[in-house]
Amino acid sequence: MKIVIGCDQGALTLKEHIKEVLKEFKDIIVEDVGTYTTDSVDYPDIAEKICDKITSGQAERGIALCGTGIGISIACNKVKGIRAALCHNAFTARMSRQHNDANVLAMGGRDISFGPADEIVRIWLTEKFLGGRHERRVNKIMSIEDK
Ligand code: RB5
Repeated sequence: MKIVIGCDQGALTLKEHIKEVLKEFKDIIVEDVGTYTTDSVDYPDIAEKICDKITSGQAERGIALCGTGIGISIACNKVKGIRAALCHNAFTARMSRQHNDANVLAMGGRDISFGPADEIVRIWLTEKFLGGRHERRVNKIMSIEDK
């Protein structure tokens, strides 16, 4: 599975840390779309880069990081085909895959410490979408894009 990862300056340290965690997954290829320095950038630009990779089929899923995770998740969710979930713990990470089939995981570099972030990433990458009634609901979410 190809994963695209990106962050603004508020989550640069978290991004670099998560890239190390992703090395545990031998079947995962990671593309880092930046930012690469602590210089200030605008998180919507990073969100667009992440989402372009997914909607064009170059990556299956994404990890989007900013200071809170809020701004970048809002931006990602403006892109057709994206379901970004801002996760704070193991439960929300699990539910975002099982119930929402989230294709982008968002977290806040100024909000979450490495330990919980590691757990969230591991769960989010391994949990499967349950389908069934959840598929009907996800389809309804996606149909809102066409209204
Ligand atoms: C950048 O200062 C900050 O606004 C951003 O990282 C994020 O927290 C926005 O939601």
